Amino acid sequence: MPSEEGEDVVNHFSKMCSRGVVAPLASPLATPLAVNASFATTSEIALTIKDEQDHTEPRQLRQKHLCCLHGESEDRDKGSTIESFMTNFSNIYESELLPARNGEKFTEHFLHEVVDILLSYIKRTYDGKSKVLDFHHPHQLLEGLEGFNLELSDQPQPLEQILVDCRDTLKYGVKTGHSRYFNQLSSGLDIVGLAGEWLTATANTNMFTYEIAPVFVVMEEILLKKMHEIIGWGESEADGVFSPGGSISNLYSILVARYKHFPEIKAKGMAALPDIALFASEHSHYSIQKAAAVLGIGTDNVVAVKCDARGKMTPSELERAILKVKRQGKVPLYICATAGTTVYGAFDPLADIADICEKYNLWMHVDAAWGGGLLLSSRHSYKLSGIERANSVTWNPHKLMGVPLQCSAFLVREKGLLQACNQLCAGYLFQPDKQYDTAYDTGDKTIQCGRHVDVFKLWLMWRAKGTQGFEILINKYLELAEYLYKELKARKNYELVFDAAPELTNVCFWYIPPSLRHIPKEPEREKRLHQIAPKIKARMIEEGTVMVGYQPHGDNVNFFRMVFSNPATKKSDIDFLLEEIERLGKDL
Ligand SMILES: Cc1ncc(COP(=O)(O)O)c(C=O)c1O
Repeated sequence: MPSEEGEDVVNHFSKMCSRGVVAPLASPLATPLAVNASFATTSEIALTIKDEQDHTEPRQLRQKHLCCLHGESEDRDKGSTIESFMTNFSNIYESELLPARNGEKFTEHFLHEVVDILLSYIKRTYDGKSKVLDFHHPHQLLEGLEGFNLELSDQPQPLEQILVDCRDTLKYGVKTGHSRYFNQLSSGLDIVGLAGEWLTATANTNMFTYEIAPVFVVMEEILLKKMHEIIGWGESEADGVFSPGGSISNLYSILVARYKHFPEIKAKGMAALPDIALFASEHSHYSIQKAAAVLGIGTDNVVAVKCDARGKMTPSELERAILKVKRQGKVPLYICATAGTTVYGAFDPLADIADICEKYNLWMHVDAAWGGGLLLSSRHSYKLSGIERANSVTWNPHKLMGVPLQCSAFLVREKGLLQACNQLCAGYLFQPDKQYDTAYDTGDKTIQCGRHVDVFKLWLMWRAKGTQGFEILINKYLELAEYLYKELKARKNYELVFDAAPELTNVCFWYIPPSLRHIPKEPEREKRLHQIAPKIKARMIEEGTVMVGYQPHGDNVNFFRMVFSNPATKKSDIDFLLEEIERLGKDL
């Protein structure tokens, strides 16, 4: 999925299940209390019947059904497959699942049922006719919708209710894998990535030591090396860590840069430092300012460097800002160049910025959270040329590469710096006298203690697609962006925010309703135009047919920002979006 053959593959998987080749899938529940289908071996059935004996009525019903199956076991032994028997969860509780004694069967049936719920949700997600969302206001959810009660109870709920809760949770959520979901930089649902997430949750371990996550820790190292190599760093010198998102990766970059220049910060704190200044473009992500606030540097000490009309940092403005800060007696420390800005999808001129960093001995960070994926495309990677000169890089595979949330790498060129900056050697975790190479206890490099395993799903997807598979996808997104750009230029009801072919997958535009079409571009028109996108978006969400983001930016009043990172999206979805905006907005 979402290839056209995707459904066939899923059906094939189901058939393999029914042949016992792979784990079976349970059939959907028709009603919350309906029959679940699954299957079992003869000995499992016998075991289950034994387990049933002290159960109350619904179980007797199931036992009766099992007895029928038991009678058919001769056939089954000859090779025929028993595809279903009854499991009624209405009187079964979580306490009867593993590790409860003899809990295997209920656990198996329960999880099959959950997989089935997820699978039918995935099929609906990829069914072009389904809605993207079924919107309700917070108070409606809080009040309880159609029996979907979010309140927590003192008494345990039966597993049947738990399954209904799973279904309802998905029902009232947003289908972010839908081909018409364009709202965020992360979209789509990669099936192998999903399998990776399931496996990760099943392993349920923690990344802080090799001792408890041996395979995942080595996978992280392999992924980091691969990413260093793609950036163009010598793999032996580089380092890094997977963190909970691009904002945290950006925070790491400032933390490490500050430690590199002022190692005394770790023990003495900000009081031991001069006034420092950071630089990022006026189009950079807000996480730089947030990190400055968190790290005690202060947002006032983040200088917003001016950009050109396309949203790229202007190198001469950067140099001017550095000199100004110096004149004020502050110490310029760090520059964040953005490779793929959040709204315009612009790439800062990395090579020019690298020259300036060298000239003034500043730390160069590249925030490639969004645009980093382009490094995998031989057609588009030139847009990040100069990234190999950076001291650190943020790259979020959970954006353009479509890895399920969250998956963000913080990469740093100097080995050992992260460790020195963050290490505190907690004796109960990082004992130096373990029997293996404790350099693999990577947890002390991080600012966290416990750390989620974010690497496996990326590793698995990379295995399944190969680097080439990512390249094909990313090239396709760029082609879709190009198609939209041309469509917008051709349609009289739309205006581009900046008239330049997309460098990344962002395309920014206004819909101009007939009521504004002949009004000159003066403040009164801009004031009215500012209200158009939010009104259309509100209607769009109520109808649930499509989702796209909007925002004002600088002097530009509210406009739509379209982004592509969803493997399910086709040109027809773009046509739909443009027609839908028109349908929803023509009377405004
Ligand atoms: C350029 C850029 N950097 C950083 C981030 C933050 O990433 P995250 O949402 O994973 O924290 C974003 C998010 O959109 C981004 O566009």
